[in-house]
Amino acid sequence: MGTQQSDALVFFGATGDLAKKQIFPALYGMVADGELDIPVIGVAFSQWSLADLKKRATESVKAARPDADAAVLKRLLSLLGYVDGDYADPATFDALKAALGDAAHPTHYLAIPPSLFETVVKGLKSVGLNKGARVVVEKPFGRDLKSAQELHRVISRAFPEDAVFRIDHYLGKEEIMNLLYFRFANSFLEPVWNRNYIESVQVTAAEDFGVQGRGAFYESAGALRDVIENHLFQIVALLAMEAPGYQGYGAVQQSKTTVFRAMRPLAREDIVRGQFEGYRDEEGVAADSDVETFAAVRLFIDSWRWAGVPFYLRAGKHLEATAHEVLVTFKRPPQALFDDAVSPHHTPNYLRIRLQPNSVIALGARVKTPGEEFVGENRELVVATEHPEERAPYERLLSDALEGDRALYSTAESVEAAWAVVEPVLTDHEAAIPYAQGTWGPEEANALIVGDDSWHVPTLKED
Ligand code: BG6
Repeated sequence: MGTQQSDALVFFGATGDLAKKQIFPALYGMVADGELDIPVIGVAFSQWSLADLKKRATESVKAARPDADAAVLKRLLSLLGYVDGDYADPATFDALKAALGDAAHPTHYLAIPPSLFETVVKGLKSVGLNKGARVVVEKPFGRDLKSAQELHRVISRAFPEDAVFRIDHYLGKEEIMNLLYFRFANSFLEPVWNRNYIESVQVTAAEDFGVQGRGAFYESAGALRDVIENHLFQIVALLAMEAPGYQGYGAVQQSKTTVFRAMRPLAREDIVRGQFEGYRDEEGVAADSDVETFAAVRLFIDSWRWAGVPFYLRAGKHLEATAHEVLVTFKRPPQALFDDAVSPHHTPNYLRIRLQPNSVIALGARVKTPGEEFVGENRELVVATEHPEERAPYERLLSDALEGDRALYSTAESVEAAWAVVEPVLTDHEAAIPYAQGTWGPEEANALIVGDDSWHVPTLKED
């Protein structure tokens, strides 16, 4: 259906957690921006009524946007419809078809656990609701390479690839989009953006909170599947990709997929997994769980540009701070001309890209300290960006799906290529190492770092 505007949004999992935290506020934002004026049909198996759903939508919008405009909220509520039923029961899809009425180009958004994708896709197809429609699938796209391929097969029996939208909400964040822009809208980076000048790249995605009631989900995922294989790999792809060959969706996707394909599959010694103390007491978590709430990974991209440059990635829950930061460290100058070059405090040049909670790009450089000696200190050239009016990622991404714009969505090839990288260590790994809450995870992660480098602690002060 190309770029045909959708005429209804069907929203599976409407009574769930994701809907409550993210989707209703996003729908509100879309109505406020004039981007949503079509029926929104919630579907769930919760024995709810439409009134219950409207109540939930109201609470959710007010919690996320205390200053919500009453007229906009009212408009959103007026667009809502609701179908309650078991996804395995054909009657649910008959009821959905009836609720959709004349809509010929619905977008079906599956905000549901992956184990239900197949049932819902088959249900949609059984009543012809796949025709002329799009489907938006939430991550994780499978649990491993095989299940991702199977998921792809199931979906492709009902929807052509250009109607499939695989959502990774990171791709809708301003700071992530800026990685692509910053790299290719500037010319000064390119000459040094390679193995000749770059020593290492680090990406840290640290959260100071735990699994927040999602213990059961975490048991089926773990940090490697939940954050590293998708969000962090997307960041690496944007940092490492070649310039897209032309301006357009396909070129960016192709460049990113090439990065995933050039990543060396991880081996047992490339990953350290950790589990915060207390995780096993969370609801839905096994008493002897070995699921990781922290993972640190050493990754190589065996390409002309990146051969030999280690990429270190780590993500975890209940760490010391909430901060997502990239650190690209450059090689030291070839000759130690100044006495302070041998000092342990001599920081090499770096590019620091803070992605969350604030947005900063800083270039670390040596500057001479005034005085007789030729010694210096590290200073940062800083660009800090404020995004007071930034649209929430889901708002941006769902609007794009309704318009048929796939630029910020992932392709089946890239998803499968990314799974192939982590596949070996999904099952072949050391046991998760316990770590105290409020730390940077197990110390064993330090052993992943090659040479004199160490893990970069994200800048904690406000920039
Ligand atoms: C989600 C993960 O995809 O991303 C969560 O499931 C994680 O575990 C979250 O906390 C981080 O995203 P954001 O946008 O909240 O920083």
